[in-house]
Amino acid sequence: MNHQSMACIILAAGSGTRMKSSHPKVLTMFDEQPIVENIIEKAEALQPSQVIVVVSPQYENSVKERFSDRIQLAVQNKPLGTGDAFLAGIKKLDHSIQSIMVLCGDTPLIQPKTLQEFAKLFHATQSNATLITASVDNPKMYGRILRDADKRFVRIVEWKDATEEERNITEINAGMYIFARSAMESHLQAINNKNASGEFYLTDILESLQQDQNNISTYTIQGEEEIIGINTKADLAQALQISNQRRLHSLMVDHGVYIIDPASTFIGPNVSIGNDTTIKPNTWIEGEVDIGQDCTIGPFACIRGDQGKITIESHCTIGPFASLRKNCIIRHGAKAGTFVEMKNCEMKPDSKANHLSYLGDAVIGERTNIGAGTITCNYDGFEKHKTIIEEDVFIGSDTIIVAPVTIEKGSFTGAGSVITQNVPPNALAIERNEQKTKENWAEKYRESKNKRRQS
Ligand code: UD1
Ligand code: CA
Repeated sequence: MNHQSMACIILAAGSGTRMKSSHPKVLTMFDEQPIVENIIEKAEALQPSQVIVVVSPQYENSVKERFSDRIQLAVQNKPLGTGDAFLAGIKKLDHSIQSIMVLCGDTPLIQPKTLQEFAKLFHATQSNATLITASVDNPKMYGRILRDADKRFVRIVEWKDATEEERNITEINAGMYIFARSAMESHLQAINNKNASGEFYLTDILESLQQDQNNISTYTIQGEEEIIGINTKADLAQALQISNQRRLHSLMVDHGVYIIDPASTFIGPNVSIGNDTTIKPNTWIEGEVDIGQDCTIGPFACIRGDQGKITIESHCTIGPFASLRKNCIIRHGAKAGTFVEMKNCEMKPDSKANHLSYLGDAVIGERTNIGAGTITCNYDGFEKHKTIIEEDVFIGSDTIIVAPVTIEKGSFTGAGSVITQNVPPNALAIERNEQKTKENWAEKYRESKNKRRQS
């Protein structure tokens, strides 16, 4: 639906004190974006003609810097309550706007579909206002919905102002409303601060509107999940958990990915995974990551595409205990095994690093085998250098490769070598002292030691 005469106002000027943070709550990262951006995107999806974000003067510039091309900013000078924030927001409304959707800047779990249905109900019922309510087991400190004997909406009472009896009500206010502009404008004077917190409550408008015209509708959802407001770090963790589990569920049900232990797995919002890939427990995948089909990832894999995309083609094995960190391409059938770390690295098809390696700024050729303990020394303390290992190479265990260096196709390196020069095709590069073997040495050694102990 295209909501041309609708504006969305996002209230995001609260002081956020419960976060106990030195950073603004609206810019707190949630699912790889600032919380407020999540709400902006959901508002944009409705295609309203205006998106207005109400912020405090303190964070005006940082919000402007990030989002000014997408939104209009309204500044609330002091956090005097949601009603006061709303009054700041409506000052920015264009003349053509006929309805206003109000969203909170701290409720990122609301689903786009819910907002669509919510808007649909408002239009279908031609209400003066529609609000989202939730029926929950534990109503916590949310505002309670009071209804009359015919179940008609009467008003919202805040927890702080509620009687014991009212606090027992389990239908709560989600803090999301749609107002018909003209009706709303004639009830603005109802917003006041004569209540337990001394704040201006936006919810006062609803009571006044209802008394006047009895034309308010409610859109009720089951459970708190979609409307959780992020007020503390504990809320942040709980919300992230819910969002992550939603994604894992969709990966399994819609995409055929097998996630053995969802409870210990985190997969970010910018990750795609092909079917029949298995994600083993304790795996963390974030940032931009594409994983193909039939791969095995984990247990204990950490794949971080947050600073540069990671691509893993099909039939690859990553882990256990592998760490892929920015700009890696793992081609078909390749393997990064136990305790292997990679950065800026391409592994060509069917190449393998099975154990204990660091491969940074490197290209590993097709079918090449990297022995246990191999390290690319890519950094000289000032600059990064590149290692190129061509196809069908066998890198012996514990090879130290001092970049820049190229090891050409079909060659071998001897175990324990420090490779500082290019290696031509099909050669053996070995760099270590010749072994000396002293026969019967151990016997004599033990004898001398025993003599000393006895004396
Ligand atoms: C509000 C509702 C409550 C509802 C709950 C749902 C009121 C009076 N109460 O309470 O009924 O159950 O949301 O989450 O509206 N904000 C400002 N300026 C301010 C104060 C708040 O912009 O001066 C913004 C906040 O940044 C936040 C939103 O408004 O995004 C809600 O404010 P908050 O203080 O969290 O309201 P609640 O106490 O949760
Ligand atoms: Ca809140």
